[in-house]
Amino acid sequence: MDKETITLTDEQIEFYHREGYLTIPAITSAEEIERIRDIYDRLFAERAGRDVGDQFDLATPDEDNGPQLLPQIMDPVKYAPELEDTLFRANSFVIAAQLLGPELEYFVEHAIRKPPAIGAATPWHQDEAYWDPAVEYNSLSIWMPLQEATVENGCMQFIPGTYKMDVFPHHSIGHDPRVHGLEVDTVDVSKAVACPLPAGGATIHHCRTLHYAGPNLTDNPRRAYISVFRLPPVQRDLPRDFYWNEMKRTARAERRKAAGKE
Ligand code: NI
Repeated sequence: MDKETITLTDEQIEFYHREGYLTIPAITSAEEIERIRDIYDRLFAERAGRDVGDQFDLATPDEDNGPQLLPQIMDPVKYAPELEDTLFRANSFVIAAQLLGPELEYFVEHAIRKPPAIGAATPWHQDEAYWDPAVEYNSLSIWMPLQEATVENGCMQFIPGTYKMDVFPHHSIGHDPRVHGLEVDTVDVSKAVACPLPAGGATIHHCRTLHYAGPNLTDNPRRAYISVFRLPPVQRDLPRDFYWNEMKRTARAERRKAAGKE
């Protein structure tokens, strides 16, 4: 793996633990961004992993011939092994270790693309709302744009301090159980902070931090590449009721089942 080139300052670490998010101006080099962007565009053009449920649309019923307004690929490295050995990964690991401690483990990576002009908003949500309600999580996502990220093309926005709260009730986007993407039922956005970034910068957020990314109103795609780390999950004494996930009937789940994935 590449050798890391950055570490967080004490001030940055304190900021993360107070606010539940952090912005850093550069997590990799301009050359690497270009290389990753080529791979990324190829994977989305091929809809890599669609047949096993790794590629799906987050904001629509995800029909094969339907529009893809917020396409996602889980574990892109499975489809492009050259993504394994990157400076982004080396730096992400070091940053995650500073914020989570030495017991951290790699969780997953994913890629979310907002197509030009039609790219849908990623509604306000907490990442933990997607996961196992029987498990206690402490995880963080490192979100890197492969071009400039602006309010107009869908940069990340956060509500400071919300990571200290429980997981709020969520529902599938548009209250349509065929849609995989989740939206929190109610949210006060008066304290929301938008985090525009240069290409190759990064935001980092805790799995309970409320976050949002607007629609892509520009003529170019907004590409985000995300790496997730966590502490070893602990079984909760009392499981929670994430009924919004039980209600889902997604085409992605059908494809996973047909492929023998669950
Ligand atoms: Ni999220």
